Amino acid sequence: MPRFSRWIIRAAFIYLLLGFTVGALLLTHKGVPLHPALWGWLPAHIEFLLVGWVVQLTMGVAFWILPRYWEKPARPKARYAQVAFGLLNLGIWLVVAGTTFGGGRWVLFAGRVAEAVAVALFAGHAWQRIVSREGM
Ligand code: HEM
Repeated sequence: MPRFSRWIIRAAFIYLLLGFTVGALLLTHKGVPLHPALWGWLPAHIEFLLVGWVVQLTMGVAFWILPRYWEKPARPKARYAQVAFGLLNLGIWLVVAGTTFGGGRWVLFAGRVAEAVAVALFAGHAWQRIVSREGM
């Protein structure tokens, strides 16, 4: 597994831990009220688990496992995937800042734009690697 995949998958596991922790607190809060502000963390719970965990784990595994080329570079446009990783994480925290931390709709919007660009860049990297066994 390439180093970049190891990093992105590790990051995904950190989001899994964060998302489950917030989820467990929310679940507890439903039975035993802990703090009135806790419901404000629901958007963070969703963002950590759907984007931070599910999307990032998929990206990390896809970067590793999609067909490579024998000739150099084995993974063309790897830089696109790396920039996508940075933008996706920026996007996650902007969304959390815009919702849970009350940053407002423009911060949320900026986060979603960063995430959308990250997805487009990752797709741009992966496109050439979606090939058959014969390389077509
Ligand atoms: C990959 C795993 C998970 C994902 C993608 C996920 C996603 C979501 C989403 C989308 C919602 C909003 C549902 C809605 O508003 O209708 C939600 C709500 C919630 N989640 Fe999760 N979740 C995950 C795991 C967990 C875990 C492990 C826990 C608890 C330990 C948890 C606790 C909660 C609670 C308490 C709510 C609020 C439910 C309510 O509105 O009454 N989640 N989750």
